[in-house]
Amino acid sequence: MEQAHAAPQVPADVPGEIRAIKAKLREQIGDVEGVFRQLEDRIKVQVEEIEARRANGEDVWPVFDYAEIEAGAVTDEQIAEVKKRGCMVVREHFPHDQALDWDRDLVNYVEVNDFDNQYRGPGDDFFGTLGQSASRPEIYPIYWSRPQMEARQDKRMASVQSFLNHLWKYESEGKTWFNPDQDSMYPDRIRRRPPGTTSGGLGAHTDSGALERWLLPAYQKVFRHVFNGQPDKYDPWDAAYRTDVNEYEGGSTMCSMFRTFQGWTALSDMTNDQGVLHTVPIPEAMAYILLRPLLSDVPEDELCGVSPRHVLPISEEWHPLLMRALTPIPDLKAGDSVWWHADVIHSVAPVEDQQGWGNVMYIPAAPMCEKNARYAATVAEDFQAGRSPRDFPEENYETEWQDRFTQGELNEIGQRGLGLGV
Ligand SMILES: [Fe+2]
Repeated sequence: MEQAHAAPQVPADVPGEIRAIKAKLREQIGDVEGVFRQLEDRIKVQVEEIEARRANGEDVWPVFDYAEIEAGAVTDEQIAEVKKRGCMVVREHFPHDQALDWDRDLVNYVEVNDFDNQYRGPGDDFFGTLGQSASRPEIYPIYWSRPQMEARQDKRMASVQSFLNHLWKYESEGKTWFNPDQDSMYPDRIRRRPPGTTSGGLGAHTDSGALERWLLPAYQKVFRHVFNGQPDKYDPWDAAYRTDVNEYEGGSTMCSMFRTFQGWTALSDMTNDQGVLHTVPIPEAMAYILLRPLLSDVPEDELCGVSPRHVLPISEEWHPLLMRALTPIPDLKAGDSVWWHADVIHSVAPVEDQQGWGNVMYIPAAPMCEKNARYAATVAEDFQAGRSPRDFPEENYETEWQDRFTQGELNEIGQRGLGLGV
């Protein structure tokens, strides 16, 4: 039996495991081709609807005002829309001026600590392929600045995270899977992309495990209806067994917390043709991704380009239908935030000679549960020491830096998010 808490190892014989799981799943599903074609037809309806909206100049991404969320004034119709799309924008999540102040404070923080001279190049091979020509990176491996910590423990952040967590079914199969009203703090990096940037972007992918989604027993339970040949019963919003998943050890893309939504907060205004985030706004597309490799045109020991320790790639070669739905975020102002469901396909478009800045702080929604509490305990230690969190390369730039956010500045939300007292 796999250890309940430890990150499992990548199997020694990945092609062999893939052949074995394909045989097992085909037996469970029966008419794989028929089940897949039915699912494809349902997804096609959504893809065509998204294409039509885009052609008509209508919003595809649901857009909320922070004030509506805070006041509990969101309508059932809006909830239905965000559950359908699996992504959303929160306008004025933070006041525009506050976001611009944070942006400036971040620059001061890295400058006063001489980051330009300390920077040793990309610490991993994932984001590192972007912006290598710059003397500064595009993704800054900085975690403990005052702006980041202030945003993470702001009550406006907590109220949006709670709203997002409540979109999920967190009580099912006789268990409460997480506490939707208490987030655990998941410190991530910042991105600063200056005007004039030319970048190849990031290809379409999903996070939180690739090979794991087929091979790990906990993920097999998450996707039990898909793997039993009833993808119409699959509910992307049912949290059952998700907090039992532990991704394979190693690699630079793993996330040790369960996130209901990935997200970031904009620290600059940006227009949506300047190399921005795109999603395939169809949460059920995960069922398509999972079943697609079982068709006969995919080599027996492959899963449509999946390889250990890398994100799960979505491609024109294997998923042309899904790629048609790839849709950019709307234009954003500093202080707006952007969110997408843990399984939703996303990409960053390429850009040439970018106009304006493209600055964001990555802050997800990661509700408290046993899994997240365990990682939060390590976060609390790394915060106190100023080290890089365990999920990220051990770059540890900030251990001796001045102006780091201190423990005494934690409010109640911050303390609870780190599992400290309260
Ligand atoms: Fe990603």
